[in-house]
Amino acid sequence: MDIKFNLKPASERRTEPFVPQGEVGFGRLRTDHMFMMDYQDGEWRDPRIVPYGPFEMAPGAMALHYGQSIFEGAKAFMHEDGEIYTFRLNKNAERMNRSADIVCIPNLPEAMQLEAINALIDVDRLWFPRQEGACLYIRPFIFATEDRLSVSPSSKYTFCVVLSPSGAYYGKNLNAIRLLISTKYHRAVSGGTGASKAAGNYAASLRAGKAAAEYGAAQVLYLDASNKYIEEVGAMNHFHILKDGTIVIPEFTDTILRSITSESILALSEELGCKVRQEPVLLEKFIADIESGEIVEAGGFGTAAVVSPVGSYIFEDGRVVTVGDGQVGPHISRIYKVFTEIQKGLRPGPDGWVKKVEHRAG
Ligand SMILES: Cc1ncc(COP(=O)(O)O)c(C=O)c1O
Repeated sequence: MDIKFNLKPASERRTEPFVPQGEVGFGRLRTDHMFMMDYQDGEWRDPRIVPYGPFEMAPGAMALHYGQSIFEGAKAFMHEDGEIYTFRLNKNAERMNRSADIVCIPNLPEAMQLEAINALIDVDRLWFPRQEGACLYIRPFIFATEDRLSVSPSSKYTFCVVLSPSGAYYGKNLNAIRLLISTKYHRAVSGGTGASKAAGNYAASLRAGKAAAEYGAAQVLYLDASNKYIEEVGAMNHFHILKDGTIVIPEFTDTILRSITSESILALSEELGCKVRQEPVLLEKFIADIESGEIVEAGGFGTAAVVSPVGSYIFEDGRVVTVGDGQVGPHISRIYKVFTEIQKGLRPGPDGWVKKVEHRAG
């Protein structure tokens, strides 16, 4: 791919490593540049790295009206050698195309996505925050740009990547959250868009998120449309751990997003020293097993936190069910440790999981 580099003049861009003075937060900051590429006449063209800034877009751009818009979320980490490494970015590229299929957006070859992201990180590498637990959050997205007011797939799209220097998700310790078990709001139905990272899925989750906050819960635990099976959390896959240490993740269906964190946990059972399996999870049995002590820990898997322990669940009638003693358990602490050590290059992971961002020649 022949990427054009239209970079900011040296006087306007970062020239020293970014050493944050305070909290960096998540998703707030941007780097100097972004990657863009357009789709038109049946092909992706004009790959370019340009200064970060507003787009020019027709008011009739179809993404604004019919929501043909998808995104990904990944992180890059700095290892002890001072180099930046991505984590399983090929899985994000693969999932971007799965999302694209679901909302009729043309695929963008994985190799092109990876090249685009690596080139952008390379250009803005000085923006990596030099702070414990920090990362570069990577946000690739594709949206429909054709100026047409009829409901049909757009013939024009833009692929864009922006980077956000972000701080550690947790302070010193993991903290346990509460989830609202919602029978009123559903995230997905079979045959719908639940298995994609379509922007509209997240718009639809905002109301449920507000309801969760009213119950003092951090996020919603979504059930399937029949309110029988556990599906996933707001922006994480759900899991629980049995007293023999087995990790159970609800089976991936077309109503659950295939979390790359979950997929990685499934592949790491040897390193974690426990069994990991997927199966449909009946809500009634899940609650009964928490109450009997058969289930000892539970939580969510996702890129943002890696693992988010759940201390308790609250039903819409106010009933609270506490998992174990409501605190962060030893299995989850170990999962977090192993996973983040692999991401940071402190522990060898499976081949190809972490990849160095190469320096551009010249
Ligand atoms: C709905 C949903 N489920 C699960 C996840 C976790 O996926 P991953 O582990 O790939 O971040 C996310 C975040 O991407 C999400 O938005």
